Order: sequence, then structure tokens, then C-alpha cells
Amino acid sequence: MWGDCMSERLKIAVIGVGNMGSAHAHSIFSGKVNGLQLAALCDIREARKDYCAAAFPGIPFFESWESLLAASCAEAVLIAVPHRLHAMIACAALESGYHVLVEKPVDIRVSAALKLNETAQRSGRVFAVMLNQRTNALYARAREIVQGGELGELKRNSWIITNWYRTQSYYDSSDWRATWSGEGGGVLINQAPHNLDLWQWICGMPQSVVGFCDVGKYHRIEVEDEATIFARYANGATGTLIASTGEYPGTNRLEISGDRGKLVLENGQLKWWKLNRSEKEYRFGQSPGGEPETEYCEWAPAHPETAHLGILQNFTNAVLYGEELLSPGEDGIRELMISNAAYLSAWKGGVAVPVPFDTEEFDRMLEERIQHSKRKPDRGEQAGNTAYLSRWSVRW
Ligand SMILES: NC(=O)c1ccc[n+]([C@@H]2O[C@H](COP(=O)([O-])OP(=O)(O)OC[C@H]3O[C@@H](n4cnc5c(N)ncnc54)[C@H](O)[C@@H]3O)[C@@H](O)[C@H]2O)c1
Repeated sequence: MWGDCMSERLKIAVIGVGNMGSAHAHSIFSGKVNGLQLAALCDIREARKDYCAAAFPGIPFFESWESLLAASCAEAVLIAVPHRLHAMIACAALESGYHVLVEKPVDIRVSAALKLNETAQRSGRVFAVMLNQRTNALYARAREIVQGGELGELKRNSWIITNWYRTQSYYDSSDWRATWSGEGGGVLINQAPHNLDLWQWICGMPQSVVGFCDVGKYHRIEVEDEATIFARYANGATGTLIASTGEYPGTNRLEISGDRGKLVLENGQLKWWKLNRSEKEYRFGQSPGGEPETEYCEWAPAHPETAHLGILQNFTNAVLYGEELLSPGEDGIRELMISNAAYLSAWKGGVAVPVPFDTEEFDRMLEERIQHSKRKPDRGEQAGNTAYLSRWSVRW
């Protein structure tokens, strides 16, 4: 739809040119996003300056995000620094008049995400979050079915998402990874945000959460590499999400049960058992031994997900032409609300935490962990990716 004839261009600066930021910068620099132009780069590391000079000749480089924002050489910024800095930089950018695309998660604290959302609303700028797995049509179809009421009132869901396998070397590659002070959590804050977002996107927000977080179960890290969340929804429905970076082979299987049938998303396919009438009505209206009639169908997307490029294109089109955002920045708080609540629950010994919860209590308990956090030596290993790693897309 947005062909080469498009004349308008959006100038964007990438803040944080590590694994993710360099992949984004390469995509934009090589013209993979129609209408998007790489205008500047920023990183605090000397080594990244040298890398950027070689990889992106002619593109201005800034050693601090403050100096980049002050230089006004772009209309938008893409923020790909460690998560704990996201909301602070995004707020400053929005207040300076930039459109903002922030990497997931929007921050590590709901309190910071709330301030970011207020700032974004006041700014009138386009604000989006890189929830690239929303571009997978299988999840969009499941959302349509559930939110459109075709599955009836929800009863239960269960997501096993244990194929986020990571090695010790991955965790050792940067000083900030897998520490409370540097990253603010483990699998729930780094890998699972995609699933937590899709979970709420499809099934809605839970009313309360119980979290079990196993710290350093499979790796030498101070945060969780396995987590189980039990969710309860307003209508009494229940949900479970199990995430791990220490299982191989892992599983990606989402099952949703409702009054009108069941959905299973697995192996890149949606399986749908449809009931021609309400199960509840049947349960109370039939003789012993009967079972409701079901119709079975399978569905698989005709096209692969557009992933990061899809979100970059959508963000560009939103700024240039007012296209509706697929992943509005304000939505980023939802998955963070679930992961923060799960941490709070685990820290308090597995109690049920209401959603929304007391952010002051969360911030205080996180701060205690940050104070006792051990920073690791920085191996400074950054690949300088020229492409998006397959592990960042939906895997089955
Ligand atoms: N959407 C996805 O699929 C996906 C995949 C990977 C990473 N990410 C996200 O991208 C972000 C970065 O992750 P990464 O793996 O690229 O980390 P990384 O450590 O490889 O890169 C982060 C970069 O930010 C720079 N940086 C740190 N503080 C800075 C500051 N104050 N100003 C400017 N630059 C600064 C670092 O020097 C580094 O080069 C994280 O929030 C992560 O969750 C998203």
C-alpha cells in the first residue's frame, strides 16, 4: 500500500545501538521501511561509536541521548537501551516534541509507565511500543474470536511458553543482564513480555495474580529463569502462564476454553472446537452421559508475521498518514502490570495480588533487590546484528 512513490519521509534516531538497536538501524539504513530515514545514532559506549562509523557512514553519532534530543536532527526516536531507562528517555523525548517508538518492556516499573503514558497523552505525539509478536496473524485471529464473543464466556486459559531458551553465555554477555539493578528482573521482564502482552490482548486483563518465580534455577543469575503465573479474571475464569529460559526443547502452546468451545494455538496452527450452543445450557438441560456436539476446524496464517519491520512500518505510517497503531505505547503498561504483580506476589510469599496493585509497595521491594544486586563484569559482547534474530519472533 505504501509504495516507493511515497514522498514524505520520517527522520528517526536510534538510541542504544546494541543487539536490538543495531538490527533496527540496519533495517532503516538499508531502506527496508518505506518512508523511514535513519537520521542519527546514540550510544554511551566508545566501541559502538566506532562500529556505527563503519556500519552507517555519514550518520551523525551522539554520545548521550540528552545531546541527541537537543540537536533536533530527527522527528522521532527509537529507544533500544536497557529497559530500566526506557520511560525516562521516552518522557524526555516526548516532552521535546519527538514521536517515540520504545522497545519492550516500556519500563521495569508500572509507576514509571504510568508517568510515561500521561506524558504521551499530553504530548500529542505518536507513541508506540515494539510488541512485534502482535504482527503474527495467528494471535490476531485468536483475539478476534475471543474478543468477538465467538468462544463465549471465558472459563480457563493455559499458556506454556518455555521455548525462550538462553545459555549462561547469553546472560554473561552484558553487565546489565539478569540483575535486579541492571535489568529489573528475568524471564518475565525480558523474554515473556511478548507473551504477557498477547495473553492480555487476547483474554483481557486479570483481576488478580499469583506469581511463583524461581531465581537462578538453571543459570548463575540473581533473577528468575522460570516463572509460573496464576491469573483470576473478573468473571471467575482462571489462567496460567509458565515461562522458562532453561528448558530444551521448549513448548509454545496456548489453550483457551470458553462456554462455546476451545482454541489451541500450537505449531503455527489454530485449532478450534466450536459448540453450536452454550455448554452451560447443555450441562443443565440434558440427560446423564451426553456431551455437546462440536464442529472442528484448523486455521494457519497465509503469510508470516511482519515482526519488527511491521511495527516500524506501522509507526512510520502512523506519523506520516495517521494509520492506527497496532501496538500503541499506552498498551505497554498492561503486560508490565502483570509481571510487576507476579513479582510482588512472589516476593510476598505467593499471595494473590490485585491488578492494579500498590505501585509504592512494588517500587520499595524492587529497590531492596536493587540495593543488594551484584553487578557483573561487562564482557562488552555485542554482535552488531545485521538482521533480526529468529529467537525474537514467534517460535513453535
Ligand atoms: N522486540 C524484541 O524482539 C527485542 C529483542 C531484543 C531486545 N529487545 C529490547 O531492546 C532493549 C535493548 O536490548 P539489547 O539486547 O539490544 O541490549 P544491548 O545491551 O545489546 O544494547 C543496549 C545498548 O544500549 C546502550 N546504552 C546503555 N545505556 C545507554 C544510555 N544511557 N544512552 C544511550 N545508550 C545506552 C548500551 O551501550 C548498548 O549498546 C531491551 O529493552 C530489550 O528488551 C527487544
